[in-house]
Amino acid sequence: MSRIVIVSNRTPGKGPAAGGLAVALRKVLGNREGFWFGWSGKLTEQPQAEARIEDIDGLTVAQVDLTREDHHAYYAGFSNSILWPSFHLRLDLATIESYWYEGYRRVNAQFAKALMPLLRPDDIIWVHDYHLIPLASELRNLGARNRIGFYLHIPFPTADALYAIPHHAELMRDVSRYDLVGFQAQRDVAAFTDFAQHQAPSTFGARAIEAIDFSRTDVAAFPIGSDPEAFSRLAASPAAKKMIHRMRRSLGDQALILGVDRLDYSKGLPQRVEAYEKLLANNPRLRRNVHLLQVAPPSRDTIKEYQETSDTLDAICGRVMGHFSEPDWSPLTYVKRAYGQPSLAGLYRMARVGLVTPLRDGMNLVAHEYVASQDPADPGVLVLSRFAGAAEIFPEALLVNPFDTDETSEALRMALDMPLEERKERWQGLMAAARTHNVDDWALRFLDRLAPGTADAGSH
Ligand code: G6P
Repeated sequence: MSRIVIVSNRTPGKGPAAGGLAVALRKVLGNREGFWFGWSGKLTEQPQAEARIEDIDGLTVAQVDLTREDHHAYYAGFSNSILWPSFHLRLDLATIESYWYEGYRRVNAQFAKALMPLLRPDDIIWVHDYHLIPLASELRNLGARNRIGFYLHIPFPTADALYAIPHHAELMRDVSRYDLVGFQAQRDVAAFTDFAQHQAPSTFGARAIEAIDFSRTDVAAFPIGSDPEAFSRLAASPAAKKMIHRMRRSLGDQALILGVDRLDYSKGLPQRVEAYEKLLANNPRLRRNVHLLQVAPPSRDTIKEYQETSDTLDAICGRVMGHFSEPDWSPLTYVKRAYGQPSLAGLYRMARVGLVTPLRDGMNLVAHEYVASQDPADPGVLVLSRFAGAAEIFPEALLVNPFDTDETSEALRMALDMPLEERKERWQGLMAAARTHNVDDWALRFLDRLAPGTADAGSH
């Protein structure tokens, strides 16, 4: 039976609690042969040619260290200051330093070189996310003939945003060297297909650019999910109950509106707090009866745009508190730290409203986890951005345009006033979709399309 090799920037055990990637993939290697390859989290003076192999909680993990300079250009630079903002259609927040591209390629080449000696000819390789787009090219240049799949966890951009990325043609040629490319949503498949069909041979300055041949690359949407059964169990666990008890003691019977997001400009946090501000301004009856809890663990905080988002959010939260607080009541709590899954499951379960309003998002697993954590007898309401991949599978949510704070504020009012029968009916639809799109099936579907028959073999 073929082994599965997973490659991602972060390896398990190293990621922040709020990132969905590690949680989702740990399960894939749980019951099959293979290993996980990625960055060790360590920075060194010299580039490291060979991977270190370790057992991390029963998983075989092969890791390489990166030099500080390469890591900066690859991670904070090209991946998170160029690709991340462009793919999220925030060109205004992109910093285009084209030399970062060299560091990005160097790290991908280093990964390929360290991975190559560990591979067997029939290993199936599954590469994850925008940090590693060139990896298949680099592996193929070293002679790898394995089946190699790529999964993009973030949205695929429109052609215009793609053109703003330095070396985008090379990157798209790299994409064409995968056997399978998976996206979160139909929206992303459509954007990719649009680019693939319309790009043509062209000249750029003095350079002639050939059209890219995507004919050997299979492309499809594989919407990722959570482990809904595990989350519903967790939400009824003693640790979750403890959190609920603690919250109830402080909130009494106020209705909780909950947001949980990495502190990232793509999450629409300032707009969200502004929508809440409008809710309080327009509905005085809700004051003292409602509370917003925003959990936002800091993320990528060496990057200026992330620091600015954090400052903006501080200012807006301060303004709302100053305006609406009373000596014995505060309208919101803003917590800049990560919580473990049991505590989060408790918070999700007690929240009357799950507020998930990214300006653009690949999928958004918080939406899935919120749904899975609800009490079937008294479920809360999901208010969800129509620009999250999750909107394609959760039509029973209250879908909003997150840029329109009036609309979000009105959705919040509707959610808070929604009768139990309607909440139950909507939640049943949401929970059915969360079960259908669970993370185990997601991985099996991707692997089975990449190498037909492997999913069957792996599930026995
Ligand atoms: C998103 C990306 C992941 C990333 C995670 C956390 O979910 O798709 O690839 O791991 O954010 O971000 P970080 O930069 O801390 O790895």
